[in-house]
Amino acid sequence: MKPVSLSFAEFRSCHLLLGIALALCFNRVSSTTNETDRLALLAFKAGISKDPSGVLSSWNDSIGFCQWYGVMCSRRHQRVTILDLRSQGLFGSISPHIRNISFLREMLLQNNSFNQEIPPQVGQLRRLRILRLHNNSLIGNIPKNILNCSNLVILWLGKNELTGEIPRELGSLLKLREFLVNGNNLIGSMPSSIGNLSSLEILYLRENNLSGSIPQVLGHLKNLQYIGFPVNGVSSTIPSSLLNLSSLTVFDASDNQIQGTLPTSIGLKLPNLEFFSIWGNQLEGVIPPSISNCTKLDMLQLGDNRFSGKVHSLENLYNLSVLHIFGNQLGNGELEDFNFLCSLTNSSKLRYVEISRNKFGGVLPTCISNLSITLMGFAVGENQIYGKIPKEIGNFINLEVLSMNLNKVSGVIPSNLGNLRNLSKLYLSDNNLGGTIPSSLGNLSKLIDLLLAGNNFHGQIPPPLSNCLSLNLLDLSNNNLSGAIPPQLMGLSSLAIIMNLSRNHLTGVLPPEVGNLRTLTMLDISNNLLVGEIPSSLGDCTSLTSLRIGGNFFHGLIPQSISSLGGIEELDLSCNNLSGQIPEFLTKFRSLKLLNLSYNNFEGMLPRE
Ligand SMILES: *[C@@H]1O[C@H](CO)[C@@H](O)[C@H](O)[C@H]1NC(C)=O
Ligand SMILES: *[C@@H]1O[C@H](CO)[C@@H](O)[C@H](O)[C@H]1NC(C)=O
Ligand SMILES: *[C@@H]1O[C@H](CO)[C@@H](O)[C@H](O)[C@H]1NC(C)=O
Ligand SMILES: *[C@@H]1O[C@H](CO)[C@@H](O)[C@H](O)[C@H]1NC(C)=O
Ligand SMILES: *[C@@H]1O[C@H](CO)[C@@H](O)[C@H](O)[C@H]1NC(C)=O
Ligand SMILES: *[C@@H]1O[C@H](CO)[C@@H](O)[C@H](O)[C@H]1NC(C)=O
Ligand SMILES: *[C@@H]1O[C@H](CO)[C@@H](O)[C@H](O)[C@H]1NC(C)=O
Ligand SMILES: *[C@@H]1O[C@H](CO)[C@@H](O)[C@H](O)[C@H]1NC(C)=O
Ligand SMILES: *[C@@H]1O[C@H](CO)[C@@H](O)[C@H](O)[C@H]1NC(C)=O
Ligand SMILES: *[C@@H]1O[C@H](CO)[C@@H](O)[C@H](O)[C@H]1NC(C)=O
Ligand SMILES: *[C@@H]1O[C@H](CO)[C@@H](O)[C@H](O)[C@H]1NC(C)=O
Ligand SMILES: *[C@@H]1O[C@H](CO)[C@@H](O)[C@H](O)[C@H]1NC(C)=O
Repeated sequence: MKPVSLSFAEFRSCHLLLGIALALCFNRVSSTTNETDRLALLAFKAGISKDPSGVLSSWNDSIGFCQWYGVMCSRRHQRVTILDLRSQGLFGSISPHIRNISFLREMLLQNNSFNQEIPPQVGQLRRLRILRLHNNSLIGNIPKNILNCSNLVILWLGKNELTGEIPRELGSLLKLREFLVNGNNLIGSMPSSIGNLSSLEILYLRENNLSGSIPQVLGHLKNLQYIGFPVNGVSSTIPSSLLNLSSLTVFDASDNQIQGTLPTSIGLKLPNLEFFSIWGNQLEGVIPPSISNCTKLDMLQLGDNRFSGKVHSLENLYNLSVLHIFGNQLGNGELEDFNFLCSLTNSSKLRYVEISRNKFGGVLPTCISNLSITLMGFAVGENQIYGKIPKEIGNFINLEVLSMNLNKVSGVIPSNLGNLRNLSKLYLSDNNLGGTIPSSLGNLSKLIDLLLAGNNFHGQIPPPLSNCLSLNLLDLSNNNLSGAIPPQLMGLSSLAIIMNLSRNHLTGVLPPEVGNLRTLTMLDISNNLLVGEIPSSLGDCTSLTSLRIGGNFFHGLIPQSISSLGGIEELDLSCNNLSGQIPEFLTKFRSLKLLNLSYNNFEGMLPRE
């Protein structure tokens, strides 16, 4: 008889029954020898329908089960303590017989394709300390019985298809340190009993459908380091007791419906904070100046809220790499608005400064030339910035995104922007920029989006732009550009999304190279001074959904090849000198939503359909 194979409760009941049903009791004992484990493992194996790497073929009688793949036994009693079958592509269900492996301490089945429910029998594994089932396809509720696993320290159930609520009494798992159920379909609110999990270090509830408020009692969790519940429907305010836990390193409440303000003293209470993200809520008030006392901050994401007022100095944030405060009502349209940018010059790891869609006004200060060379994104669009583009921006050789659209920036594009060899997005639309478009932009071989629309650029479109072999989206519309469209640019086959040259003074023909734009979806060259016939190669642009060439001097027939544009939704040929019959094939364009043929010299009948 091995007492170690009995739980304390069973042991006691055996004593009570002694003499009455001794035989029964001995049966019970013998039924929990290592043979029990072997049978339970075989029952577990039977629940698995696919084992692509064949790891379970070793689970046979030619060797003892303690040598089976993924099985670890205690040395003394040869009982299974760890079952580790992670990342094996296993497909099947978790057998309820798992409960018979009564010495199991760790069950690691993550990153497979286990489906069906988590068997409630897991609750009988009283010695279970670690349960990792994340990244499977488990359905159903989190079984309440799991609360009987009172030794659980780590419970990872993320990335499954679990439904229902988080068990209200989760707080009874007093040893729990890590609770992760991200990426499921859980509903209801965070149970307030979590406030009793005094050992809790990680609480991760990302991407569920949780609602309700954040329990005040979370502020009792003195060991909490990581709390994240982004992408849910949590509302109400953030309890000040929670933003008072000096242990916190990560706080992520982004993309919820949280209201209220941030506590003034936040930065004094959270000295260990490295990641603070609350973007996409309805928070208001000022950004507390004390945030600058969170000297370990790496990411500060406050975007898309209702914060207003001045942004104070962030000078102590030496480790800051991401500052996202876009989409608020920050700034007063005054000169000091940008002083906080100057306070970031000692942040030597700075990578992203995104302050678009606010009320920042004034001229960009020259101190930005002292920002860290590590800068990769500088986005200041949709503010009230005037003055010139500081030419020092050309020194940030790591810059990938430069966005200043929808401001009142004037002057020219500094030609040294052509030095930014990593630049992939340049957004300068809707400003008061003038001069010519520098040919040096043709050096930007990684450029994907080039948006210069709505300015006063004049002169020719620089032919070197056709060296931007990654270009996807080119918008030069609504300027004063003149001269011919460079044929190489028109034939730049990387252009996959939009080419918009409309509303300029471009002359000459539409180069036949346009036929290279096989993946382009929108072409707009309307309202220019273009002449000649529509090149029949245009029919090769078979991905087009929108074609606008209205307001030019095109003449001749609509080429038959246009019939290849089967996905076209918008076709505007108006205000030209086109002639001949209106082709029958227009009736075959099933997706057509807009057709404008007006102000031409077409003749004959409109196709009946
Ligand atoms: C698990 O134990 C129960 C009861 O102790 C028993 O009925 C069942 O047959 C066992 N399962 C296996 C696979 O041995
Ligand atoms: C049984 O397991 C052993 C050890 O892994 C293996 O070599 C053998 O091929 C297995 N037998 C069968 C029939 O799968
Ligand atoms: C099971 O236990 C018996 C006796 O306690 C022992 O002889 C046997 O080796 C054990 N089996 C395994 C696979 O550990
Ligand atoms: C998950 O499993 C797949 C194989 O099924 C493996 O390629 C991948 O690296 C695993 N991921 C992790 C995080 O273990
Ligand atoms: C999740 O598991 C699948 C296999 O089922 C694997 O392809 C994928 O890489 C895993 N994801 C992670 C984050 O490990
Ligand atoms: C869990 O424990 C409760 C009492 O704490 C008991 O009523 C219930 O039957 C147990 N469930 C399992 C599956 O052991
Ligand atoms: C927390 O624990 C206390 C005492 O341990 C208990 O009285 C209380 O009901 C628990 N709270 C919750 C919400 O479970
Ligand atoms: C979230 O839950 C609400 C009810 O609480 C339900 O109406 C909604 O469809 C759910 N959304 C998702 C994405 O599951
Ligand atoms: C914040 O923490 C301090 C000390 O840990 C405590 O005295 C104070 O009451 C807490 N404030 C709130 C609002 O919980
Ligand atoms: C917080 O930062 C301010 C401004 O840098 C500084 O004057 C103050 O001493 C800091 N307070 C603490 C407690 O670190
Ligand atoms: C900044 O980060 C580095 C490691 O990335 C760390 O060693 C250093 O202590 C951090 N500085 C502060 C002030 O937290
Ligand atoms: C940057 O650090 C230097 C040297 O410690 C200091 O003199 C200067 O005031 C700091 N600048 C800012 C903006 O914090």
